[in-house]
Amino acid sequence: MNDSATLSVNPAPPARERWALPVWHTLRGRLIISVALVHVVLMGLFTWEAVDRQSQELRQEMVNQGRSLASLMVVASTNALLAEDLASLAEVTRRVAEREDVAYGEIVDVRGFVMASTREGRVGRPAGPVIESSELFPLAESDSVLDLREAVLIGDTEVGFVLLGLSTGNLERALAATRNRGIQYILLALVIGSVAAWLLSVTVTRNLHELTLAAKQIGDGDLGARVRVRSQDEAGTLALGFNLMAASLQRNSREIEREHRKRTEAERLACVGEMAASIAHEIRNPMVALINSAKLLGDPKLEAEDHAEVAHIVETESSRLQRILDDFLTFSRLPTARIVSADLEPLVTETIGLVRQDPRYAGRIAFECRYAENNRCRFDPDLIRQVLINLFLNAMQAMPAGGRLMIRLQRGERRMGVSIVDNGSGIPERIMSQISRPFFTGRKDGTGLGLSVVQRILAQHGTALSITSQEGAGTEVSFDLELESDG
Ligand SMILES: Nc1ncnc2c1ncn2[C@@H]1O[C@H](COP(=O)(O)OP(=O)(O)O)[C@@H](O)[C@H]1O
Ligand SMILES: [Mg+2]
Repeated sequence: MNDSATLSVNPAPPARERWALPVWHTLRGRLIISVALVHVVLMGLFTWEAVDRQSQELRQEMVNQGRSLASLMVVASTNALLAEDLASLAEVTRRVAEREDVAYGEIVDVRGFVMASTREGRVGRPAGPVIESSELFPLAESDSVLDLREAVLIGDTEVGFVLLGLSTGNLERALAATRNRGIQYILLALVIGSVAAWLLSVTVTRNLHELTLAAKQIGDGDLGARVRVRSQDEAGTLALGFNLMAASLQRNSREIEREHRKRTEAERLACVGEMAASIAHEIRNPMVALINSAKLLGDPKLEAEDHAEVAHIVETESSRLQRILDDFLTFSRLPTARIVSADLEPLVTETIGLVRQDPRYAGRIAFECRYAENNRCRFDPDLIRQVLINLFLNAMQAMPAGGRLMIRLQRGERRMGVSIVDNGSGIPERIMSQISRPFFTGRKDGTGLGLSVVQRILAQHGTALSITSQEGAGTEVSFDLELESDG
């Protein structure tokens, strides 16, 4: 039914500024953190693997060196051990002690007594239990000596053994150096990786940032916004696509604007023409009647009783002229709404009182009111009174033989619904889409401005009229008003 359309625009939520985001939520941050993490993990694994391999190699080499040194001691001390030549045995241990990685060296006879030792006070004493640790060493973290035992054999007979302790200090130092170098490489990889990721991200995000700014400009109405195409890669293709899209948008928008201007101008001219024709048409009949009456009144032969009748015609026709002009004036000089918070009920009651006095319908219309308990809302009382008068009169004019007019105020969540229901003639389907147009009337003495005035006033209140009707059964017209907010 309704020939007015409501256009709703959802404003886009304000874009969060890039720099207000936590680092992890930006593309640049994610790229840098991911690349840095990958570098650190890879270099960490690589370093750990290198240190582990080097440590095994160094330990094996140390064991080998220890074994050959112990074998040398065995060879050098076999005869002296048989001859129990303590001086020669002492010479062997002294020479062994010259090596800086040797912690101790001892030669023990078959009974387990120490014959020569690099350690003070051990000669002549039992060697004690011997712990040999060539496979697993050091035995404990605190133990920094590798202990080796090598038997002195004549044929298959053991005539004694040598004990050799090698210090693991050098080994630990070498491993620590490798570990430190590994850490340095990890840090270097971290720095290089982050810088590379940053450079990459700058290229990518700069393009994205430009695209975002341009899209925002277009969103704000500047359809001339474009981005610079810097490269032939995916980012370049995207920028190119964006520019093509923006250009097409701009072309279409210009086209629509041109069309709109043309149409508005045509509509305006048609409206002016329609209005002029309508005014001429409306004014013509009363004017003709007035001119004729004036001629008659000027006729000296006019009878006294005819004189009274002509005077009556002059009065009714001039008040009809006045009504037509009043309607036109209300339509063309509608004031801007001054919206206040007020009760709707007293205004409705007062307006019913006004229209009830119209002698054309006096006593034939039964008014029925259903009000919400609290009906305070926001409106311009003078303009809404005008709306109610126009709608009440339309309903009453649709019930020339009398009828029932119901006014309903219904409170919604945020708005107050106002409905006016009559059981009059109803509106024929074929004129339904035209009744809100200015100067369209379905009645002989109508001006066709009542509903136009209503629509314009309601538009100032952020609402529109909705009409449902069934020919022969009646009509319901409704609109809503903003409820008074609690705050
Ligand atoms: N309640 C109603 N019942 C039947 N017809 C209606 C009703 N309200 C409006 N109309 C139709 O809409 C037309 C336009 O109404 P309006 O703009 O007020 O102009 P006017 O009352 O001067 O004709 C009316 O002439 C009438 O045909
Ligand atoms: Mg009307």
